[in-house]
Amino acid sequence: MKGLVLAGGKGSRLRPLTATGAKQLVPVANKPVLFYALEQLVAADVTDIGIITGDTADQVMHAVGDGAAFGASITYLPQPAPLGLAHAIITAEHWLGDSSFCMFLGDNFLGGGVIPYARRFREQGCAAQILLRRVDDPSSLGVAVLDGDGRVLRLVEKPLDHISDLAVIGVYFFGPEIHQITPLLKPSARGELEITDAIQGLIDAGYHVRAETIVDDWIDTGKKDDMLEANRLILGSLQRRIEGAVDAESTLIGPVVIEDGASIVASTVRGPAIIGAGTTVRDAYIGPFTAIGPACELTGCEIEHSIVLEGSIIRHVERRIADSLIGREVVVERSPLRPQAIRLLLGDHSRVEVV
Ligand code: TTP
Repeated sequence: MKGLVLAGGKGSRLRPLTATGAKQLVPVANKPVLFYALEQLVAADVTDIGIITGDTADQVMHAVGDGAAFGASITYLPQPAPLGLAHAIITAEHWLGDSSFCMFLGDNFLGGGVIPYARRFREQGCAAQILLRRVDDPSSLGVAVLDGDGRVLRLVEKPLDHISDLAVIGVYFFGPEIHQITPLLKPSARGELEITDAIQGLIDAGYHVRAETIVDDWIDTGKKDDMLEANRLILGSLQRRIEGAVDAESTLIGPVVIEDGASIVASTVRGPAIIGAGTTVRDAYIGPFTAIGPACELTGCEIEHSIVLEGSIIRHVERRIADSLIGREVVVERSPLRPQAIRLLLGDHSRVEVV
């Protein structure tokens, strides 16, 4: 079985971060969300992996390389435009050949990995297997209606009426039969070739599409709060590791990772929290569920339940920063200039909440 990881797309919901960077490379606990998908595929013995790329292809290729670091062999498959998840399968068709494959959306985070589902798909030999997760509010998701044997009867995108609370998540298993269906698809109202239409096409053609209902955590990290939630989950199982320097005036509480070359001076870090390599924390409080990337500088500030990316600076900010996702090389600082005012230089689609 091959792997097909989708790392193209528009990423419009995570702007402005995705204006310059791939959303699949936004770090969760200081590791790109895409890396978890690659690791989980390799753990399920799926090592021949194709990655669909879009405008951010260079960054993805730079981060993942040839896959040797993951124990995988990676082939990059450029998609001419983000024309939909089923279009990504068409893009990969030649590379996939007649192999079955696991398609993994590169921004989806699965708490428990895919090992049992890959095994059951290999045993069952059906045309497709989808993974479902029970959710409280399925109205913005694709849902599946099943018969008593776990066979999928139909899929409905964003159901208006409550027909099922089983949401289709971003990991799918397909046999080569899917390539008979994708050429028949028509673009949806949003102009994309939809994966739900492709799966429905298999069902309508009489193929067996089975479902596995997962109980593990699943997060589609397309939006800020979802990224923070994934960060919270991963940090929740953090093991304490101190490789950087911590001075005598500092206190580390609970599961805290201080990476090599980081320096903690006169500060409190209350875990679970991770401080990246080469970052300096001075006269500061880092609270639970916070991941500070490498080469950052935090001085005279308090921050919790947040993600800060590489090279950012936060200096002398009196109010505690919380629930925030701060991009690369951002500067947030108190200014002595008068008049006292909030002065902003923000990219398109930025969001600032002030009190
Ligand atoms: P989505 O989150 O559905 O789409 P998107 O990336 O365009 O994001 P947004 O809705 O915020 O604009 O995509 C799921 C994953 O699949 C994500 O990793 C991007 C990837 N993808 C492709 O590789 N090709 C595509 O044509 C599409 C639509 C998505």
